[in-house]
Amino acid sequence: MSSTGLREIPLARPFLDEREEELVLEVMRSGRLSLGPTIDRFEEMVAERVGAPYAAAVSSGTAGLHLLARAAGLGPGDEAITSPVSFAASANCFMFEGATPVFADVDRRTWNMDPAAVEAAITERTRAVVAVDMFGYPCELDEIRALCERHGLVLIEDAAEALGAEYRGRPVGGNGVSAVFGFYPNKQVATGEGGVVVTHSEEEWKLVRSLRNQGRDYDGGAWFHHVRLGFNYRWTDVHAAIGIGQLEKLDRLLAMRSEVAARYGRLLKNVDVELLCPDDAEHRRSWFVYVIALPAGSDRDFVMAELRAAGIGTAEYVPCVHLQPYMREAYGFAEGMCPVAEDIASRTLALPFFPQLEAQDQERVVDALRRTV
Ligand SMILES: Cc1ncc(COP(=O)(O)O)c(C=O)c1O
Repeated sequence: MSSTGLREIPLARPFLDEREEELVLEVMRSGRLSLGPTIDRFEEMVAERVGAPYAAAVSSGTAGLHLLARAAGLGPGDEAITSPVSFAASANCFMFEGATPVFADVDRRTWNMDPAAVEAAITERTRAVVAVDMFGYPCELDEIRALCERHGLVLIEDAAEALGAEYRGRPVGGNGVSAVFGFYPNKQVATGEGGVVVTHSEEEWKLVRSLRNQGRDYDGGAWFHHVRLGFNYRWTDVHAAIGIGQLEKLDRLLAMRSEVAARYGRLLKNVDVELLCPDDAEHRRSWFVYVIALPAGSDRDFVMAELRAAGIGTAEYVPCVHLQPYMREAYGFAEGMCPVAEDIASRTLALPFFPQLEAQDQERVVDALRRTV
């Protein structure tokens, strides 16, 4: 209960039912808790869903991105370009390998990296670009891919927030670029923890399978035979069971999310806030979180405190990655590097958003917001 005596409305909540319970129980009874057939089945389902030939499940989205950075051979002295409006893992994944982060400012409409800013950030040390489909909205993949080809750069798609999105009529992950999805509980497919790498290269797939499993041969092989330095980024069959239940109803989950988003759109019509950009012919968002931007000059802390006092979950979504304390300390990054991203990030906040969010709760959220904005 909140201080007003009203029921709390959380920011996110997974939608799980008897099907996941049944599938988890099957795995528990099978005794195959890791490296088992349930993971294989999950990978097949993801690959089919997004239209990629290969998928390799890993322990998190971050782990998947790290393995793609390792597979790309990034290292000290290299630079990699990514978006300042993202989660830290988009940059951390190549920093783990010793590469230096470079941030390209975002487009004011889509809040994804502006291809012109990416091109302007390329130097003779640039080796890779991590393009992010932020808040489930597909990035300008074709333009970024074309400039990566022109400059001989590796392209990795951080689609952690975008399972179910479509770019130019194809599912995100099915466009020929190696991509990663994540399954944290607020994601479209929620398994607790987990991630998956989808790739169009058999060689890369084998490498990722080997790297996730302590550098063993990609197909397992002898347990104490390690062909390279690897990680324990294995997933579990218990998580995969939940994932299969979620994938089986993904269309329904996405439709429920879209409906909740559309209802917020109607309710917020006369409230002075900026909404996420709408779909167009080439971009179809997969609704992940419901983020709004307050008008310039608003006191966001006050708005968030008022929402919380009314029992409504909210969070800053998201502070700029380049302005995080560890980035400032390591590279001397400061305000002014990415003005569009910094302006957006200073005004955004997330409202409660999940498939089963009820209309009356959304009305309560918007009423509270209207009173404070
Ligand atoms: C854009 C983005 N990239 C990467 C990740 C990392 O995923 P995980 O939390 O599964 O490691 C997230 C997760 O929130 C994300 O939103």
